[in-house]
Amino acid sequence: MYSEYLKWLKSGLDNLNVGGHGWPGVKPDQSLAVEGNRVTEIMDALVERLGGNYPFGHPEYAGQMLKPPHGIAWAAYALAMAINPNNHALDGGPPTSEMEKECVRGLAAMFGYRDDFLGHLSSSGTIANLEALWVAGLLHPGKAIACTTAAHYTHERISAVLGLRCIKIPVGAGGYPDMDFLGKHAPEIGTLVVTMGTTGTGVVEPLHELTGFCRDAGIRIHIDAAYGGFFKLLEGMGMLNDAPWAHTSMADSIVIDPHKHGLQPYGCGCVLFRDASVGKLYKHDSPYTYFTSAELHLGEISLECSRAGASAAALWATLQAFPLKGDAGFGPILQQCRMAALEFADAAGSLDEYTMIGRPELDIVIFAPLTRGRLSSQVSECSKAVFRKGMDPAAPASERLYLSLYRMPTALLPADCGIETDTGEITVLRSTLMKPEHRDFVPEMVERLRRLAR
Ligand SMILES: Cc1ncc(COP(=O)(O)O)c(C=O)c1O
Repeated sequence: MYSEYLKWLKSGLDNLNVGGHGWPGVKPDQSLAVEGNRVTEIMDALVERLGGNYPFGHPEYAGQMLKPPHGIAWAAYALAMAINPNNHALDGGPPTSEMEKECVRGLAAMFGYRDDFLGHLSSSGTIANLEALWVAGLLHPGKAIACTTAAHYTHERISAVLGLRCIKIPVGAGGYPDMDFLGKHAPEIGTLVVTMGTTGTGVVEPLHELTGFCRDAGIRIHIDAAYGGFFKLLEGMGMLNDAPWAHTSMADSIVIDPHKHGLQPYGCGCVLFRDASVGKLYKHDSPYTYFTSAELHLGEISLECSRAGASAAALWATLQAFPLKGDAGFGPILQQCRMAALEFADAAGSLDEYTMIGRPELDIVIFAPLTRGRLSSQVSECSKAVFRKGMDPAAPASERLYLSLYRMPTALLPADCGIETDTGEITVLRSTLMKPEHRDFVPEMVERLRRLAR
């Protein structure tokens, strides 16, 4: 069946100039035809334009959170997209809606939610967080959203969109929230966002130290695990601090992005609510949507209307190949990323030219070059120089390494990193080792880093 589809797809690709979908017995309409060689010209131009990307799929790209989707995911996406189902309602894509429900059930179970949860896929982590905070605001009207200063920048923006106050909790060394500050502001807070895998440094905020406090203070907990969520699969394997992960089922809502660590193309986020009764908040009346089934439609429990059924198909196919298990399926992929980060931190940290800024909690490594001096101003300049040189197309391949920069207050530098402070902020280097292939590439990365520091 799949080979028949490939044949159909190939004939479609070979005849793009004809237009239409090649339904048997249906004559493609002239208005969809593309003239002469235009298809080849357009596609050649596209390939050239796309060549301007950085090599995101190669392990020498270790800068931002970019991970190529698995081949199964993009093949499944392309296959389903040729039909183009819309998961806003069961009738918009009955099979892909079922696939979405299966995938979401799997993600909810991974976090320890029981069967009476509510959830669905979304077009991104931001939209999933928007939805969770919208529900949070409706349940605690007039109260604030609180998150740490390390939370993703969109939480503040989302709060503003929702007309909610956002209280930013300062963090101390290690990136953990200031509990005194939190205690002082508790009466004003309706929902606390706990980030499990911060975007900047991959810190897992201490959920286990916050659940009791929030329960006593009547504060909802929303976990933003857009980045870190899949690391839940490593719980109990001795590879990370299990304590926060053991408490995920106590959160009121959770966001995870399959388009980050879940091997999916953009856009595939997911929002989960522990208590399905929040579904009543979505009530709407839309006489124009087609309701041919009495079952709850995904569109009835989501803020967004149209959503790609192809996203659900891609995630479903991927989870058939890589089930959500720690010791098989998805787990070994995450293990490789985690090990790559630890091995990279050890190896780069042993070079005289670099110092590590803390120990990675997931697969993001923060470090700094010391070759222009140890003052924070000198380290910042050197970090920027290494960053620029690593991605310079004119530089030899043996020095190519795509990193990212990270700005932080010098007050948060660990005491043992050997940097002296002459500025309030420092710019350091950041590596996101989120491809399993990074592990094999660690010795080469470290060698390139050493050359770059010269
Ligand atoms: C912790 C966290 N939350 C939310 C987001 C936003 O997700 P998206 O880019 O899918 O909108 C990100 C993106 O990096 C993130 O790291």
